Amino acid sequence: MVKQNLKSKIIVITGASSGIGREIALKFAEKGAVPLLIARSEDKLVSLKKAIYDRFQITARSYVLDVSRTEDVKTVFEQIFIHCERIDVLVNCAGFGVFDYFSEAKIEDIKKMFAVNAVGLMACTKMVVPHMIRRRSGHIVNIASIAGKLSTPKSTVYAATKHAVLGFSNGLRMELADKGISVMAVNPGPIRTPFFATADPGGNYAKRAGRYARSLLCRPESDRGD
Ligand SMILES: NC(=O)c1ccc[n+]([C@@H]2O[C@H](COP(=O)([O-])OP(=O)(O)OC[C@H]3O[C@@H](n4cnc5c(N)ncnc54)[C@H](OP(=O)(O)O)[C@@H]3O)[C@@H](O)[C@H]2O)c1
Repeated sequence: MVKQNLKSKIIVITGASSGIGREIALKFAEKGAVPLLIARSEDKLVSLKKAIYDRFQITARSYVLDVSRTEDVKTVFEQIFIHCERIDVLVNCAGFGVFDYFSEAKIEDIKKMFAVNAVGLMACTKMVVPHMIRRRSGHIVNIASIAGKLSTPKSTVYAATKHAVLGFSNGLRMELADKGISVMAVNPGPIRTPFFATADPGGNYAKRAGRYARSLLCRPESDRGD
């Protein structure tokens, strides 16, 4: 993304209630942008809005949404367009994983991972693309994963969803290249977030990936006073 002045830019962030999405929201607010926060956990969104106001005097907005419910995605984005005349950046960060050997994976988990990580991401993107095309301006940032490039045992299905995100992002980038819209995919390696409580409750992956894992912050969330 070209380096830009982010002051007053409107940034929609899915998966903003926790981990990477939460940090992205704080970083954008620090630069003067206005984050619109999306996730299912209303309490966490409310506390993040407060943290953003207390630290940066920016009034964020929050929207409770399960991105796998495509009808609700439409409703929430329609609300956003009533509240804001434009969206400058969409950051698709909502996602989760369940790490299992494929032979043991539950079909419900497989469907849900695709519904959130791939279809939910596309549904949110679909809501902003026509608007960005009309304005000939916008940025779409998809948080994929190193698992989108490299699949490993027990991340089989999660990695498949992230491969889908990369395939989608690569095609969309080409479709929108001459329309003033940039499409970026981000492929982080392991980062210490609550993601692993669901992905790997036994802690085996975290133990193996430990020396490669990054922290989001120097201080743990519990020490940050928000
Ligand atoms: N941590 C890592 O090592 C790592 C590495 C590479 C990529 N990633 C990717 O980074 C993204 C963020 O992960 P994280 O590590 O920050 O995990 P996290 O702390 O568990 O955050 C996940 C976020 O996604 C939201 N979310 C989950 N399901 C949702 C749904 N159905 N609808 C709306 N929001 C939903 C959660 O909010 P609610 O529960 O409030 O809905 C939460 O805000 C994910 O896409 C993940 O695949 C993570």
